[in-house]
Amino acid sequence: MYEHDSITTRIFANVELGDGVQLGSSCVIGQPPRGKQDGELLTRVGSGSVIRSHTVVYAGNVIGERFSTGHGVMIREENRIGDDVSVGSHSIVEHHVSIGNGVRIHSQAFIPEYSVLEDGCWIGPNVVLTNAYHPMCPKAKECLKGPTVRRGAKIGANATLLPDITIGEDALVGAGSVVVDDVAAGAVVAGNPARVIKDISDLGCPYYMIDRPYDID
Ligand SMILES: CC(C)(COP(=O)(O)OP(=O)(O)OC[C@H]1O[C@@H](n2cnc3c(N)ncnc32)[C@H](O)[C@@H]1OP(=O)(O)O)[C@@H](O)C(=O)NCCC(=O)NCCS
Repeated sequence: MYEHDSITTRIFANVELGDGVQLGSSCVIGQPPRGKQDGELLTRVGSGSVIRSHTVVYAGNVIGERFSTGHGVMIREENRIGDDVSVGSHSIVEHHVSIGNGVRIHSQAFIPEYSVLEDGCWIGPNVVLTNAYHPMCPKAKECLKGPTVRRGAKIGANATLLPDITIGEDALVGAGSVVVDDVAAGAVVAGNPARVIKDISDLGCPYYMIDRPYDID
């Protein structure tokens, strides 16, 4: 069974909610996208998920267990989302996005179509990923390609990632960076345009609480 505020929350046809799913008030689950009928696309939200108020999940999403959203989250159609994923308040995930297990997207982030977020990566607040090099070009919709953020990579607050770049495994992108090229695994990049400033193994803890902030060999 699942719990929801049945007065204000709308659940469309062909929605499967796992055991213990909690839906806040004024949520919409299984909203058909333009050109699709109610119930045409299966929508699945895994057990133990917590969907907070004013979240909209379009139809065709297949979402794993223990998914959680903050308030006012938008999840467009036909995404594949793993287990233990959280999406912070007022973030937007567009359509055809692939999100692995254990991914955390902080508040007010924008994840455009055809982005890939691999297992365990972390997207900071106000981060913007992009997918069109030349917006409004007549061919723009045919070449949309979002970034790929590899396993365990972390994107600092307010960073912008250009289309079709790859952020390597466990890399760290500094706050406010504009990343225009691929980033190697384990690199720390910062600035506009972002440049390598060190390796994660060179990071120190400003509070002397730990020898290495990320103890990754
Ligand atoms: C990138 C980061 C990890 C580097 O931390 P650090 O190792 O302590 O960096 P340092 O202080 O050694 O800085 C090295 C150089 O990079 C510059 N730099 C560091 N972070 C920068 C950033 N975000 N943008 C531009 N330049 C930056 C420093 O000014 C310094 O330049 P200098 O050598 O000319 O003096 C850190 O600054 C950062 O941005 N962390 C992410 C914070 C964040 O967004 N957290 C989200 C939590 S909600």
